[in-house]
Amino acid sequence: MCGIVAYIGEEHPEKIIIEGLQRLEYRGYDSAGIMLANSDSYDITKVAGKVESLSNALSEKPAAKMHIGMGHTRWATHGKPTQNNAHPHVSQNGDLVLVHNGIIENYSSLKEELTNRGYSFQSDTDSEVLLNLIEDIQNREGLKLGKAVQVALQQVIGAYGLVVYDRKKPNELVVARLGSPLAIGIAEGAYFVGSDATPFLEHTRKVIYLEDYEMAILRTHKDLQIRNIKTDHKVAAYVEELKWNLENIQKGGYEHFMLKEIYEQPEAIRNTLRGRLLTKEGKIQISALNQHRDKFSNARRILILACGTSWHAGLVGEYLIESFARIPVEVEYASEFRYRDPIIYKDDIVIGVSQSGETADTLAALKIAQEQGAFIFGICNVVGASISRLADAGTFTHAGPEIGVASTKAFTTQITVFTLLALELARIKGQLSDAELRNYLFELENIPQEIEAFLEDIDHIKTIAESYHTADNCLYLGRGYNFPVALEGALKLKEISYIHAEGYPAAEMKHGPIALIDENMPVIVIATRKGHYEKIVSNIEEIKSRKGKIIAIVSEGDEAVKALADHVIEIPLSSECFTPIFSTLPLQFLAYYIAILRGCNVDQPRNLAKSVTVE
Ligand code: G6P
Repeated sequence: MCGIVAYIGEEHPEKIIIEGLQRLEYRGYDSAGIMLANSDSYDITKVAGKVESLSNALSEKPAAKMHIGMGHTRWATHGKPTQNNAHPHVSQNGDLVLVHNGIIENYSSLKEELTNRGYSFQSDTDSEVLLNLIEDIQNREGLKLGKAVQVALQQVIGAYGLVVYDRKKPNELVVARLGSPLAIGIAEGAYFVGSDATPFLEHTRKVIYLEDYEMAILRTHKDLQIRNIKTDHKVAAYVEELKWNLENIQKGGYEHFMLKEIYEQPEAIRNTLRGRLLTKEGKIQISALNQHRDKFSNARRILILACGTSWHAGLVGEYLIESFARIPVEVEYASEFRYRDPIIYKDDIVIGVSQSGETADTLAALKIAQEQGAFIFGICNVVGASISRLADAGTFTHAGPEIGVASTKAFTTQITVFTLLALELARIKGQLSDAELRNYLFELENIPQEIEAFLEDIDHIKTIAESYHTADNCLYLGRGYNFPVALEGALKLKEISYIHAEGYPAAEMKHGPIALIDENMPVIVIATRKGHYEKIVSNIEEIKSRKGKIIAIVSEGDEAVKALADHVIEIPLSSECFTPIFSTLPLQFLAYYIAILRGCNVDQPRNLAKSVTVE
């Protein structure tokens, strides 16, 4: 994990690096550091804590003219989040400086070799071992920085996105990537580097995403050259045009990114539907699906691989695809799939779901499936991310940047994509008549404005949050399409409020969780009118007779559940297949307001990171 930023050009880099790191804090925020350099010297500042503390520490230092910089915001893997373990690291002779995102898996054997050759280490990190390996290669083989980095990386097992500086060659930076993402921004006379493109959005629109095993040497006013680390062959640079703008990644008047992103859902879903939902023509247009129509029609089954919230979206996808298109679907945690020797058929379609498109386990699982001949379809939000590039075909959610660590609009847009896929697959497989499809399309088209109406009045959810923010435990129940939403609601609450929460299929309550229910246990039940309604009403009776506190998410106009529940939150009445999009909204607000009342850092919950690029 971790976020890295670097700059080489003519401007003073401090502001660029600090603001860039702030935008990358979603990747980790337990310590931070910066190096600022000119042709004569470099200066390093590091802190345990967030980028804000780093910025405060810098403001106490005298400003000197600098034109190169690199920075790092860390999510600890090897070594505690102390100042010592913060990046940048400096090599033993003081010449080399490095920021690194990733894990060097063979670091302990490399460390032993280096220790035998007289190296000692200032930190507990694997990154410092890599840096001293580069220095050792320079010393022993008399190589320039770029070549020494290349030779070192050939000996490394693991993952890296890195930037290295050598004070003997103070006008260049060497960057490389394997497994951890690395974007290079190209401007007039300057280069920017970031774990993604957000650090340099306002400076340039031209970006190159390095591929695995690629490295580049960046020099002011010189063209960059990309090489393959293994083969040493030159690689043609593919320059892309960035579409996101600065406004997309700022809070825009909201107190937190999470709240902003919850409110962005109508627009995000509109963007997901744009160009794909052709209501008037009665059609769905997903170009990747059209291009590979035969693959999908002949698929023996669909496997959905993902982690975290994206895995929950995958579960909703399973319900949708199986019930509409009648294709068997399995959903699996990518981390389990990759290590359990799974059976993969050549006529399987494997769908990887990932907001960031960089989650290490999802990426690795998809590679395994691809190597065994499966067709890979990616559902990602970040354009240009690794999973979207690995996939044989795919579609973007177009939710816009999601910065809050707890995923919100990414989830509802992923469900929207699955809804489109399921309906279109159903049409292709002859499972849905034109008239039925048309009705669903009309309903789908109205969803963004129905969400807008829902978002206009959420004060009652704040009141419910006030009643339960001191709870120690919380249970979330749902059935059918809303079982994955129960899982997602529980995940949101535990991620940002640190209250222990569990999601369960409502009927499974009897096989365990019911033992926990007493007058102190809030139970959130999703009880939409068209989904197993009578059954869930019985479940609510069971909770009530054990004195549990019931917060029910019901369809507009509900009567029966209202009479039983302690609190009700109404969502728009819709076909059952669309309810997950609506029922998710109150659960996002509930988690948000409970976390605020508990004084938690909603956008940057402890121990979590937005993008998990280590396994
Ligand atoms: C982390 C984030 C979650 C996210 C998961 C998968 O755990 O905190 O919000 O759902 O990674 O991320 P992805 O980018 O693959 O959807």
